[in-house]
Amino acid sequence: LEPPPADHPIQATPVKRLCKSHKIITVNGMYPGPTLEVQNGDTLVVNVVNKARYNVTIHWHGVRQLRTGWADGPEFVTQCPIRPGKSYTYRFTIQGQEGTLWWHAHSSWLRATVYGALIIRPKEGESYPFPKPKRETALLLGEWWNKNPIDVVRQATRTGAAPNVSDAYTINGQPGDRYNCSSKDTLIVPVASGETNLLRVVNSALNQQLFFRVARHKFTVVGADASYVKPFTTSVLMLGPGQTTDVLITADQPPAKYYIAARAYASAQGAPFDNTTTTAILEYKSASCSAKCNSTKPHMPRMPAFNDTATATSFTTKFRSPRKVQVPTKIVHNLFFAVGLGLNNCPRGVSRSRCQGPNGTRFTASMNNVSFVLPSNFSMLQAHQQGIPGVFTTDFPANPPRKFDYTGNVSRSLWQPITGTKVYKLKYGETVQLVLQGTSIFTAENHPIHLHGYDFYILAEGFGNFNPSRDTAKFNLVDPPLRNTASLPVGGWTVIRFVADNPGVWLLHCHLDVHITWGLAMAFVVENGVGELQTLEPPPADLPVC
Ligand code: C2O
Repeated sequence: LEPPPADHPIQATPVKRLCKSHKIITVNGMYPGPTLEVQNGDTLVVNVVNKARYNVTIHWHGVRQLRTGWADGPEFVTQCPIRPGKSYTYRFTIQGQEGTLWWHAHSSWLRATVYGALIIRPKEGESYPFPKPKRETALLLGEWWNKNPIDVVRQATRTGAAPNVSDAYTINGQPGDRYNCSSKDTLIVPVASGETNLLRVVNSALNQQLFFRVARHKFTVVGADASYVKPFTTSVLMLGPGQTTDVLITADQPPAKYYIAARAYASAQGAPFDNTTTTAILEYKSASCSAKCNSTKPHMPRMPAFNDTATATSFTTKFRSPRKVQVPTKIVHNLFFAVGLGLNNCPRGVSRSRCQGPNGTRFTASMNNVSFVLPSNFSMLQAHQQGIPGVFTTDFPANPPRKFDYTGNVSRSLWQPITGTKVYKLKYGETVQLVLQGTSIFTAENHPIHLHGYDFYILAEGFGNFNPSRDTAKFNLVDPPLRNTASLPVGGWTVIRFVADNPGVWLLHCHLDVHITWGLAMAFVVENGVGELQTLEPPPADLPVC
């Protein structure tokens, strides 16, 4: 256990991108924030000091947080926010996870700029289940707004309209030289001919799924969400926000410069999206290259079309666990969540300027017709642990209130969600199977669905309405992949399974921040089991109070 590091303040810092400078919220003055490099089994002690003018929390995306739910981070779920001028020390241990995760603010849209990589290497004396790469590079894909992202979401919340899309995508905070004023803001990734390197790709974008390619190079996928996978080759990756993918890449092309590129996979029909492409440069370092290569333009990969669902799905369905796994079979909770957008009528007496969604509506989103509302003066975990009533209710429904054709155009009256802070209760050790079914209210869309505190098996995914008698036969009960964020395909479904072996309050939500803003979330409350090892630890003394 290392002593806590020096203060790492969160504060406003001027940063210039796309010809304009503005103040963004940073950690240690860095954008993206510092990379944490640890080993499986390490205990992390992170002292977060908030010197910004916003409330802040930090979430360690994908870290299981076994019995340490107090360190998970989502505001008003596992803690009250760290107020300006205050601090909080996150303490947690990495248990059995290896690969790439990341950390990000979990308060409003602060994670637009407050994020960084969390790299977990094998324990001392242990090694990767693949040949040791020569170099390792973390590539964090992000989004850049010329405006303050907090103002962008506040405007959307005020008007009920869709928020502005970003002005650029970024790789490690840099848009790349295909954007205005950005030739200096281009990440260079050096390679030597013949060597095999590891790229740790993270989609930390706020609202956009992204395709990822490197010109003329192939990837061997070896991990995702800090679990190893059965290696497979592909020339294109698709990551939803929250997801990570570890790939090996061999420098087997003629020495030159090759663009590393990311652009939108925008499945929602008709919805505006940022249609630009961010690039970094894979640059061969060799004597024969130095003069010649530096004067020639990098090769550009052919990117999939923004609506290329076939390519996205053929990638997401390739994942397998490296070997056979014991998939839990004693299902106690067989849940079905209908997941999607909605449009609420402008409430009577509310000015039309507050209802600027399609045809004078307000956008909303829900699971099983419940649009999630965060508490505003208490954390759900504290309320759960202290038995304080009134913060949430335990009536989150196991099924939608009524069935209909989720993939068809349905009348608006059918799907105007209620609001509430509803949770679904689980006893320690119970097995949950959850069918996530996308709906086509207003528009069908992919949803990267993230569960806090757990990894889950993805048993199957498909298009159309989930049909148990037909689709159960497709479940992979041999070697399904373990993930913390699943891409629910556009107009389709995904089935996940997990054992509730981590007591606490755990958010399940779409990782498009615009959708969580609209309420696309719910939480599981997992009760303590028997004995210390099945019981949530007591809260830390410096846990923020509301
Ligand atoms: Cu990566 Cu609830 O977050």
